[in-house]
This record gives sequence, C-alpha cells and structure tokens, in this order.
Amino acid sequence: MANITKIFENNKKWIQEKLEIDADYFTKLSQGQAPEFLYIGCSDSRVTAEDLMGVKPGEVFIHRNIANLVNNVDLNVMSVLNYAVRHLKVKHVVVCGHYNCGGIKAAMKPEDMGLLNPWLRNIRDVYRLHRDELNAIANEEDRYNRLVELNVQEQCVNLIKTAAVQKAYKEWGLTVHGWVFDIHTGNLIDLKIDFPKILEGIMEIYKIN
Ligand code: CO
Repeated sequence: MANITKIFENNKKWIQEKLEIDADYFTKLSQGQAPEFLYIGCSDSRVTAEDLMGVKPGEVFIHRNIANLVNNVDLNVMSVLNYAVRHLKVKHVVVCGHYNCGGIKAAMKPEDMGLLNPWLRNIRDVYRLHRDELNAIANEEDRYNRLVELNVQEQCVNLIKTAAVQKAYKEWGLTVHGWVFDIHTGNLIDLKIDFPKILEGIMEIYKIN
C-alpha cells in the first residue's frame, strides 16, 4: 500500500527511469499535447485508464467521474469534451465503463445517497429506458453487467447530442466508441455500438449542427 513518503520516492524513481531512456523526456513533454483520444471513464481506483490502454503521457486526454456519465448540465464533463474536441481536435471519443461498477450498483439501491442522488439518477434513467431488456435478465449480476453496458451506450448517445461532437463528426470524422473494462480478466471490450441503428428516427430531434 502506498503512503505519502513512498509516493514522492516513486516520483523520483520515475523521473530517473524516464531520463535514462530519453534525457530530453520532460523537455519534450512540456512543449505541448496533441492527443488523438478523449477517454471518459469511471473514477474507480481499479480502472486506471493509461495502464489498461498501454498509453504514454500525452496520448490520451482523460476525464473520470462516478460511473462515467456524460451529463448535459455537468460543466466539468462538458468543458473537458469541448476543449478536447474544439481545441485539441481529438479523433476519437471513448466512454469506458467497467463491470462491478459501484456507481451503477449504488444507483439501483433504494437508498437516500444524499448529494449523490441527482448524479446517480442519470443511471436510473438509463434503467428506465431499457427496463424491458433489463427486467428480463433473471441473474442479478448479469443484469448489473448489462446495465453497465447500456449506461456506456447512453453516455455515448449523450456525446452525440452535443454540438461539439456533431460538428467534429462532419468536419473531420470524429468517432465515438463505447467500451467496457472487464475487471475480472483485465480485458478491454469494444461494445461495437451501432449508433445509426440506435439513433434511427431520433437523431433529427437532437440535430443542432
Ligand atoms: Co465505476
């Protein structure tokens, strides 16, 4: 288990390791960023974005919150999205959920979670949208796992509803991806969501660009 002293020692070691490979590593790093990916994932300490994707500093712009939500009125996620798309001009936006997500489980408990209530209600709304499919799954764990996937799908749809994504899709073919990290095996799963199919007959409502 890391403690504060250990963290600063680790940092010194990390600097040495980087400089041994490339003496100009930090000089180059300080010159700017041009990531091609925006990753929106869960804050869960076990789902470490860079580690599971095997990417280096500078390669992925990252936003994490409880249960990887893309909420229209959350200034934080909307600012990250707009900066990544309009300024950094990323090519891909990823929403990555994970099985055994505590946020998803908490949302489904009939319990007053205080300040978390409005945040978690977004997940209850996902459940409501897909209640027929979810209620048909008898096994509780399977049902939670499917809700994790459907939540990723709905957050991707939320991305597609934004002007930033719609404009970037037209201008440089920005793509949205829905992934799930399987915490039991370490596998990163591409849900291969068929957006044209999901948004058929609906997209016209959300078109703003
Ligand atoms: Co989670």
